[in-house]
Amino acid sequence: MTMIDSTRVRSLASLAAILLGSAAWCGAAQAQNVTAAPAAASAAPADAAAANTAAQTQNRNSSSRGAPVDPGVRGGAPGAGGALTGLSDVERQFFEAAKDVFQEVDAGPDGLGPTFNLDSCSGCHSQPAIGGTSPPVNPQVAVATLMGAKNTVPSFVTANGPIREARFVRNPDGSPDGGVHGLFTITGRTDAPGCNIAQPNFAAELGRNNVVFRIPTPLFGLGLIENISDGALEANLAANAAQKRSLGISGRFNRNGNDGTIARFGWKAQNKSLLLFAGEAYNVEMGITNELFQNERNSDPACQFKFTPNDGTPMVAGDTASPSANFQGDIDLFAAFMRLSAPPAPASATAPPVAQASGATVVASAATDVPSVLPAAAGASAAAAPAASAATSAASVTRGGQVFSNIGCQACHTKSLTTAQSRLTGQSNVTVQPYSDFAVHDMGAGLADGVSQGGANGNEFRTAPLWGVGQRIFFLHDGRSKDLHETIQQHASRGSEANTVISNYNMLPQTDKQSLVNFLRSL
Ligand code: HEC
Ligand code: HEC
Repeated sequence: MTMIDSTRVRSLASLAAILLGSAAWCGAAQAQNVTAAPAAASAAPADAAAANTAAQTQNRNSSSRGAPVDPGVRGGAPGAGGALTGLSDVERQFFEAAKDVFQEVDAGPDGLGPTFNLDSCSGCHSQPAIGGTSPPVNPQVAVATLMGAKNTVPSFVTANGPIREARFVRNPDGSPDGGVHGLFTITGRTDAPGCNIAQPNFAAELGRNNVVFRIPTPLFGLGLIENISDGALEANLAANAAQKRSLGISGRFNRNGNDGTIARFGWKAQNKSLLLFAGEAYNVEMGITNELFQNERNSDPACQFKFTPNDGTPMVAGDTASPSANFQGDIDLFAAFMRLSAPPAPASATAPPVAQASGATVVASAATDVPSVLPAAAGASAAAAPAASAATSAASVTRGGQVFSNIGCQACHTKSLTTAQSRLTGQSNVTVQPYSDFAVHDMGAGLADGVSQGGANGNEFRTAPLWGVGQRIFFLHDGRSKDLHETIQQHASRGSEANTVISNYNMLPQTDKQSLVNFLRSL
């Protein structure tokens, strides 16, 4: 891990001193901000940092340094959606057959509903390619009235907003709920004659402040994540302990109650495996019961149009091109699609960054030697930083990657992890770059959703993996932002483990903030 070079361990105080130095070097216009900086330099515990953050955020945002501009979704071909490289022919055939099933649209005869959020896996997981996240146009609006269905579209689902599922925080009696309440029912659909159940009253629950949202997470490369050993994750979380402590960062794993191993999927790392997530999603998102989740969530007899479980292992071979897929139930195939899919490729995979002549000194020295990219510490003038006009240049992206590490983003968003031995061809000991520690962290009052899942409480979320973020439209668990600068700011609120890192960010010169955002859009 190269968060901060271990031979150059720095306390928060000295990191803040560097930042202070850089503020001073950035000229007189910043003088008013320097007075606010000692709050960060006092090596304060996280709660004190939290108390200071709001004020600091305001100071920094109103400073002349300004906010960076998010260049938006990276154009070009999606660097995602295909199979892992190195698979054998039969594994690749298995992937292709599984991908077809992942894209199937289900209806009444397949067991859709009685309650559901959409009618296919790929409908929710489609940006920038099959297996991804929310697309630009939300398919939930059209499915609400498809085939004569009579659903009202809840106010939080909009044509160009993120795909959402809704959880209620509390039951009517005040006890914790936390479960997903299906947005739609099959009532009125021509393939569901006689079914007459009502949607939950979302307007009333919104009025009681009782509804929280989740947006889809991307599924690319998740087989590799599934195959990282618990030991590797534990060692990574324990690494650089002093630096993490000085930044106010701890984190812990959400462990599976059945076997005690680390659960790693979902916004709160609440689910152990891809097969488990597939079984749950099939029943919760689409209302299709299966061999893992056998019982209908709504068992009104007038609304059942298929035996249960709706999906299961076929006893007669299917007709796919994969001998193995021919005998798999849908949930096994969904899991196989995810497990065999390749991680998203960063922009650098197609166009490797080339150091520009003008920025070469800074980039080279920072990479080999200097633990901070900040101008004062790098021994270079602010003018040597890539100019804002070179916004998305390779040099800016490279510098942004260094900023990311050095201000502490990497303390949670771990760049690299290595898989264990794999039963799949060519997938053993693969080093991946998910930019996550797969631990849950207290993200403070601003992001808290009040929902506990397994070992994760209402304030905690899994460090969101950042691979593929360059081609994403919506960010954070509830899709509250489309802008990366705003997303970074949302990390800071009372009690958040990220507060010190976000004040480091806010003290950066505008060009470095821009480089950081450009770097994120290159992923
Ligand atoms: C209505 C939209 C919707 C549909 C349909 C849907 N998903 Fe999802 N998916 C989500 C949301 C929302 C999350 C985040 C859930 C959470 O963490 O609480 C998610 C998360 C996941 C994850 C976790 C990935 C990770 O890294 O955390 C997996 C795996 C997954 N979905 C698989 C599937 C499969 C397989 C299907 C089809 C059976 C499916 N999904 C259908 C919305 C959907
Ligand atoms: C204390 C750990 C921690 C630190 C430090 C941290 N993050 Fe995060 N990050 C998270 C968690 C947890 C989430 C998910 C929060 C949520 O959705 O509510 C997240 C979400 C994100 C997202 C949105 C990803 C998505 O899938 O929607 C981006 C982008 C991001 N972080 C970038 C950064 C950058 C850049 C920094 C450094 C300035 C940083 N983070 C520092 C833990 C951290």
